[in-house]
Amino acid sequence: MKSTSKPLSKNVHLLRWVKKMAELCQPNAIHWVDGSQREYNALCALMVKGGTFIKLNQKKWPGCHYARSDASDVARVEDRTFICSLSQEAAGPTNNWVNPYEMRKTLRGLFAGCMKGRTMYVLPYSMGPLGSPMSQIGVQLTDSAYAVANMRIMARIGQKVFDLIDKDFKRVVPCVHSVGAPLARGQKDAAWPCNKEKYIVHFPETREIWSYGSGYGGNALLGKKCFALRIASAMARDEGWMAEHMLILGVENPQGKKTYVAAAFPSACGKTNFAMLVPPDDIAWIKPDANGRLRAINPEAGFFGVAPGTGNSTNPNAMKALAKNTIFPNVALTPDGGVWWEGMTETPPAEAIDWQGNRWTPDIARKSGAKAAHPNARFTAPASQCPTIDPDWEKPDGVPISAIIFGGRRATTMPLVYQAFNWSSGVYVGATMGSEMTAAAAGTIGKVRRDPMAMLPFCGYNMGDYFRHWINMQRKLTETPRIFHVNWFRKDKDGKFMWPGFSENMRVLKWVVDRVRAGGRAKETPIGWVPRYKDIDWTGMDFPEAKFEELQAFDRAAWRAEVLGHEELFLDLHASLPKELMFERELLICRM
Ligand code: GTP
Ligand code: SPV
Ligand code: MN
Repeated sequence: MKSTSKPLSKNVHLLRWVKKMAELCQPNAIHWVDGSQREYNALCALMVKGGTFIKLNQKKWPGCHYARSDASDVARVEDRTFICSLSQEAAGPTNNWVNPYEMRKTLRGLFAGCMKGRTMYVLPYSMGPLGSPMSQIGVQLTDSAYAVANMRIMARIGQKVFDLIDKDFKRVVPCVHSVGAPLARGQKDAAWPCNKEKYIVHFPETREIWSYGSGYGGNALLGKKCFALRIASAMARDEGWMAEHMLILGVENPQGKKTYVAAAFPSACGKTNFAMLVPPDDIAWIKPDANGRLRAINPEAGFFGVAPGTGNSTNPNAMKALAKNTIFPNVALTPDGGVWWEGMTETPPAEAIDWQGNRWTPDIARKSGAKAAHPNARFTAPASQCPTIDPDWEKPDGVPISAIIFGGRRATTMPLVYQAFNWSSGVYVGATMGSEMTAAAAGTIGKVRRDPMAMLPFCGYNMGDYFRHWINMQRKLTETPRIFHVNWFRKDKDGKFMWPGFSENMRVLKWVVDRVRAGGRAKETPIGWVPRYKDIDWTGMDFPEAKFEELQAFDRAAWRAEVLGHEELFLDLHASLPKELMFERELLICRM
């Protein structure tokens, strides 16, 4: 090995594991990540030199970098994601399962010598505020400087985490990541190294993560989906808390009373955008406190948001959050060293270089349909830069949750908003959630699939057992959050969104909060409580009553088909489905 930086931890277990993994992966060097700004700058400079990063015009985009990925490495790979529990039943029918002994053999083969010619970074991270009782710690070994740079934004990393590990190693989750592109002597590195073969592997019982072949967010930043959802969901089931694909936001009324809401929407369905209305995104860890109230933290420290569709008119707070110190994968480059994506501004730039490195003009786009930015182009931005971030967002004990909102991307059937009758009917609403598939995962786009609680790709164990866990949680609570369902994406006959969305979603949120704080009025329907036109605050918005009725319409024929879709999910999960949910289904059918 050429060089090894000074180990930043004294923990013998950690040192032993790093040594063992280095022997397997055979990196050229080992770098212990201290998390400093200086180190970050050096990593960025290294990536600029190697071609992974392009430094943006620093006058316009201070501290920002651009990255163009390999065209085959732009999204999560759900069919290459594995939950290797001891039994297939423990992983359940919605997860890919491979016998863990077999998988370990495969991984040993893949990782043997996989870091040749590269540096192995030892990257310690805390999901959740440093030292919070709700936080969890992981160490990611990775041969990707890109992953390290992104993780510095998305999590708390570095020396302070090593110090925590020195006090207690027992709960540290070991994560190994390689882009799977060893370099022969003298071989020039690719700008975006990755491997056609990809494996995103979780061992829930031993709490381990192995990721091979990709540099993309959810595949490579292992604190995110791999740990904070898949492994954490298994921990949470065992320990009586919840790890959810949810945003958290706080709404303050004119009297200064704050109500916190957690909302689960599938990937690329508006969590980040909704969170930025008022503040943090994507993942929530929720635990009952001593008084039986649910409290939540956001285990992440940054936003990994979808760029296309984000602009000053739709989400000015997001635009402010990403104005500096941000990494932009797969957007377009403008001639003045800036970035652009569809929806960022109304008028596109006269020319740009698209996410694949080709010349792009509005004219070319009109003729060929070529997108300047990949539909799953993203920004990695520090959460602290969001102007609407909640002052309590790093509170170690979290914030109290009064409502849970489920939501999907649905062109038909689902109204703008409705409220479930109670906890178990709310769990049914979440469990049977459907959403059109998006570019966040490789595969079919636009097809409606069941995505229970937006956790289909992220639940680290049997989905039926996960539903049971949700049902059981209520017994620990003295105050049960109210449950709602929203859909920003219903379309009219001409295929246009009926609801303007974005900042106007605040009106829906206001009704939700009114309902929670009592006093908010509603009408009972077969699916739940819905606002009447007069129950929504329309101040400053011209939205005709007839249009609202259309947006909220209960379409009996469409709901028949919807309920049959629920049944299909239930057939898959029959072996572990809680009977409460079968009863809820019967009740829904009776009401219809
Ligand atoms: P993940 O990070 O993949 O989990 O996604 P997310 O749920 O955080 O999605 P995000 O907020 O980044 O938004 C995804 C896409 O939906 C973007 O293109 C947004 O512009 C668009 N979007 C967000 N909110 C709305 C809305 O209210 N209406 C409409 N029509 N589009 C929206
Ligand atoms: C999602 O796909 O839900 C994301 C992006 O939030 S990733 O981190 O890549 O999973
Ligand atoms: Mn997500």
